[in-house]
Amino acid sequence: MELKGRKIGVALTGSFCTYQKVFEQIKKLQEAQAEIVTIFSDASQKINSRFGEAEDFMKEAERITGKKPLLTIDQAEPIGPKSLLDLLIILPCTGNTIAKLANGITDTPVLMAAKAHLRNDKPLLISISTNDALGMNMKNIGLLLNAKNIYFVPFGQDNPEKKPNSMIAKTDLVIPAAEAALEGRQYQPVIQ
Ligand SMILES: Cc1cc2nc3c(=O)[nH]c(=O)nc-3n(C[C@H](O)[C@H](O)[C@H](O)COP(=O)(O)O)c2cc1C
Repeated sequence: MELKGRKIGVALTGSFCTYQKVFEQIKKLQEAQAEIVTIFSDASQKINSRFGEAEDFMKEAERITGKKPLLTIDQAEPIGPKSLLDLLIILPCTGNTIAKLANGITDTPVLMAAKAHLRNDKPLLISISTNDALGMNMKNIGLLLNAKNIYFVPFGQDNPEKKPNSMIAKTDLVIPAAEAALEGRQYQPVIQ
């Protein structure tokens, strides 16, 4: 399905090592003429790291999309009642957000956006990046893989020798996975 004119939320959580690739994908979504709004989790708004300053990432999101990011639970809440999005992508999605989402917790702007959007029976696409995907979070990923309207950007182990439980999404597949999710399909193969 064409992305042109589709209203797409891109929700960023605190997997900072992926941000360079994530912003490349946000640019590609913008080039595909999707109407993008970004949402930042509390951690992604506050943590400055070797990967960059939080403030700079929020400015970059505004520069690319032309819209101020949503930064609070009350700013994200209208996504539900006003049915603001066709697709929400959590890109990147931390282990923390995966665990909370799978257990119905709604205490960040990103989780509020997800809950609000899912209530409208619309697709949510998740791009995971977590060191505990094959450990503590495997059960939560399993719950989400089996949940209605939830799709995954294909993912796989990124460093089996040094980080045996780590899995990360293939961010270069965000666009085809988004097109599939808009059609109610999981892009395959999901494990790569
Ligand atoms: C430099 C840095 C890099 C991090 N990278 C990751 C990561 O790749 N994946 C992950 O699940 N958590 C990562 N974290 C931990 C999360 O930021 C932390 O769990 C935070 O509570 C996530 O909150 P959020 O899911 O609401 O954004 C990282 C933290 C720091 C400081």
